[in-house]
Amino acid sequence: YERQDGKPFRQRLLVVANRLPVSAVRRGEDSWSLEISAGGLVTALLGVKEFEARWIGWAGVNVPDDVGQKALTKALAEKRCIPVFLDEEIVHQYYNGYCNNILWPLFHYLGLPQEDRLATTRSFQSQFAAYKKANQMFADVVNKHYEDGDVVWCHDYHLMFLPKCLKEYNSEMKVGWFLHTPFPSSEIHRTLPSRSELLRSVLAADLVGFHTYDYARHFVSACTRILGLEGTPEGVEDQGRLTRVAAFPIGIDSERFIRALDTLPVQDHIRELTERFKGRKVMLGVDRLDMIKGIPQKILAFEKFLEENLSWRDRVVLLQIAVPTRTDVPEYQKLTSQVHEIVGRINGRFGSLSAVPIHHLDRSLDFHALCALYAITDVALVTSLRDGMNLVSYEFVACQDAKKGVLILSEFAGAAQSLGAGAILVNPWNITEVAASIAQALNMSAEEREKRHKHNFAHVTSHTAQEWAETFVSELNDTVVEAQLRTRQ
Ligand code: ADP
Ligand code: G6P
Repeated sequence: YERQDGKPFRQRLLVVANRLPVSAVRRGEDSWSLEISAGGLVTALLGVKEFEARWIGWAGVNVPDDVGQKALTKALAEKRCIPVFLDEEIVHQYYNGYCNNILWPLFHYLGLPQEDRLATTRSFQSQFAAYKKANQMFADVVNKHYEDGDVVWCHDYHLMFLPKCLKEYNSEMKVGWFLHTPFPSSEIHRTLPSRSELLRSVLAADLVGFHTYDYARHFVSACTRILGLEGTPEGVEDQGRLTRVAAFPIGIDSERFIRALDTLPVQDHIRELTERFKGRKVMLGVDRLDMIKGIPQKILAFEKFLEENLSWRDRVVLLQIAVPTRTDVPEYQKLTSQVHEIVGRINGRFGSLSAVPIHHLDRSLDFHALCALYAITDVALVTSLRDGMNLVSYEFVACQDAKKGVLILSEFAGAAQSLGAGAILVNPWNITEVAASIAQALNMSAEEREKRHKHNFAHVTSHTAQEWAETFVSELNDTVVEAQLRTRQ
């Protein structure tokens, strides 16, 4: 195998994640088109180039028939992707239910859905059974494609049961698991009925990684407090076997964004956007339309800013680009209507016949349009209530070397630990504070903007997705060698 730069690949890597980097759309009985999937996990892993990687995951679509499955498998193979076919019932119970209605809000400190807490509690057992079944299905596909020497890298909260299933197949398999969300305080994790089983399954991996040191610490505390195991500086020990636990902060492929800025399509978009918003400062939010992103809170803070800063009313616009996500989960449906209602009310209140203060788009933007938007923005608003890392903040910084705009960043995003010195950090729950930070950002001197941007740009360009993946995989290889040496002694 050859890399794009002609050098040999370092190693074969099986990347296992619930979502493949491409989602499938059926065009006919045996024809499919593939679209790039949204989300930080996909963005980061696309930057991994050193390995001969195969992706194993769900293509985001139900394919009940053999003809469809065969055709999709073939189309995906061209992208080095291998599908796991999940039927509607499993998707409902495992993906919409256990993953996105239970684990996701819990890991982000948002608790269970407010209105149907009891119903959710009642469905725990059946949803957890579906979760385990789905993880076993992923394990079956991995096992089928595994070759000796491969590294298997499992990703995210969907697949906490996978390391255990894989080690049951083959205890020699090198297995790593990485969580892209926060791992919450052990006091939160211990409310989960399946708390112990999940922790034990993850511990079957050789290496367990998190975005920040705090998340790793919470995980080790959960293992010591809930399972009674021993936490060591290296990780968690159980009867002489060590599972290494460490922080590996993710990054982006910053060069891809920087290079794109000079291309014709991006330059065209930049010209068009600059003309459209002439005379107004542009504030930008780019998020999946998710409860953790704090979109309603962000918009209310912008309203407060408009209320308190009359002179800015016709001179600023907020562009909120929110790609719909997990649309079958009721909490997400509620969020969509809530956001639409707030935006409508504020535009009615502050808009005029010629302009509105908020442009809200419920859709995904293509890469060139996104780069152009980042580049023309004066102030980016990333106000997640909690976020594993948040790569939008990194992408914004990568595209701002000419403009040196300001990043307003939630202190509850993992990125606050890396971009905190250059950003204005805010508590997203405090609307008054966020409104004041908008005023501060819009009035900031060019010198201060430059100083802050320089700090963040240096970080984003030197901590890349590629380096993140290389560090994780080398550490996984080393961990396995060290464990083999220990058992021989
Ligand atoms: P999460 O992983 O929770 O979605 P991140 O900020 O880490 O959050 O990553 C989101 C990724 O999805 C980024 O690469 C971003 O560019 C992309 N994305 C989010 N919203 C949109 C959108 N509306 N259009 C295009 N890409 C988007
Ligand atoms: C976050 C999660 C990913 C997930 C992505 C998009 O980044 O950490 O695992 O793929 O959101 O969500 P979706 O449910 O559409 O895959």
